[in-house]
Amino acid sequence: MTNILCIGAGYVGGSTMPVFASHCPEDRFVIVDINPARIAAWQSDQLPIYEPGLEEIVQQTRGKNLFFSTEVNRHIAEADIIFVSVNTPTKTFGHGAGRAADLQFWEKTARQIVENSTSSKIVVEKSTLPVRTAEAMERILNSNGKGLFFDVLSNPEFLAEGTAIRDMQNPDRVLVGGRETPSGRKAVEKLVELYARWVPRERIITTNLWSSELSKLVANAFLAQRISSINSISAVCEKTEADVSEVANAIGRDARIGSRFLQASVGFGGSCFKKDILNLVYLCEHYGLPEVARYWEQVVLMNEYQEARFASNMVASMFNTVAGKRIALFGAAFKAHTSDTRESPALAVCRALLEERAEIVITDPYALDNACEDLKDLGGRITYEIDPYAAAKNAHAIAILTEWPQYAQLDYERIYQSMTKPAFLFDGRNLLNHKKLYELGFNVYAIGKPALTRLVNQGIVAA
Ligand code: UDX
Ligand code: ADP
Repeated sequence: MTNILCIGAGYVGGSTMPVFASHCPEDRFVIVDINPARIAAWQSDQLPIYEPGLEEIVQQTRGKNLFFSTEVNRHIAEADIIFVSVNTPTKTFGHGAGRAADLQFWEKTARQIVENSTSSKIVVEKSTLPVRTAEAMERILNSNGKGLFFDVLSNPEFLAEGTAIRDMQNPDRVLVGGRETPSGRKAVEKLVELYARWVPRERIITTNLWSSELSKLVANAFLAQRISSINSISAVCEKTEADVSEVANAIGRDARIGSRFLQASVGFGGSCFKKDILNLVYLCEHYGLPEVARYWEQVVLMNEYQEARFASNMVASMFNTVAGKRIALFGAAFKAHTSDTRESPALAVCRALLEERAEIVITDPYALDNACEDLKDLGGRITYEIDPYAAAKNAHAIAILTEWPQYAQLDYERIYQSMTKPAFLFDGRNLLNHKKLYELGFNVYAIGKPALTRLVNQGIVAA
């Protein structure tokens, strides 16, 4: 039996370890966190994160070979392998503020591992980290004065929220980076063996430590770049009467380009894309590569432009003022099937409209609590409403900001009847049937598509 510990019971630790536990019934998995409320939630029926399929797996494994605890020190002492998935937010202070990763939680964890270990261990970086963090970690861990040796591995997480369990069950690839020493190779093999219980060997890639660390940043940078690229084209489409969905389909059919991740939107969000790109930008600057830094930074700037452009288009379309107008935001989560609102474009649009003094009502099936927490600096200026029909009642406009499939199933005739006229609909995810909405009476504005509007005198392209 191998004792496996995961430090950090957030999205990453909380969705990967239960899957490990279900495939490795003879090994023992413990997830620890310094936050007692989080651990209590993991031990209850109300898990702290919403992820399809997660509840079932936790129920199957919890109390058998999967345990949640706040006793970090005791479990460090017992562990053979330690996964570290503590948060690595963007630094908000000092050198590299706004770009570099804040490694204070990581370093604290490394020191805690040293203090509490009585045997040599494998330590696996699971959080996204700047390249060469493993080197610093090795130095901290191996200056222990106890004669212990720690192998540091990099095993970045590629799972996407909303499909985390599916991604972990059936990954495109698993990446394990390690030192090219006999001990390093042995440690890599040990981790590969764990994954090989359910992942075909040919999908497990092993590399050196630095390639593995860098690949995580690069994968997210490339994915985000595709979205910023298609979003930049959406702006061109809106000026030329081209349709961004048609353009995406036409280019995506080229096998060299591929069709996925070409959905134009109000912008990308989530805890990873922006943070990882800024991390890459910082790294490039650090290594004296300013041109490369500017190249990748533009992916983030284009995303901010898209969010701002969406909000200002709303204002411009509604006779250049939204002051005092009720606007219903459909969706707060950064994408469908998650309650996560970190870096959600919905929140950016909300803030921009509040600046214009709109009256905002937000609806979302799962993310209202998180949205309320994120926007609490705005006090009581926003209404939260779980029922989309109630949210839309008397509104001048609806903005679709998260692609929840249920929003495509609503009775828009009923919604239209309940709204203030002229009624506006801004589809930030190109989720709805725009022609049908137009026929119901809406003025429809979608990303990268000609506007379908009855307001012919405003100089807007008329249908
Ligand atoms: C991402 C990576 O996909 C994952 O591999 C990595 O481990 C973590 O970061 P995640 O942030 O969970 O995962 O979500 P993802 O599905 O990648 O979507 C990110 C954002 O891009 C969302 O806001 C989504 O709505 C947006 N998006 C995605 C688009 O706007 N258009 C697309 O075509 C795809
Ligand atoms: P991610 O999305 O990368 O999983 P989260 O912020 O959701 O990130 O989770 C990280 C978790 O790590 C948090 O629950 C936080 O309380 C926990 N954490 C941070 N530092 C420590 C530490 N030193 N020991 C244990 N847990 C920690």
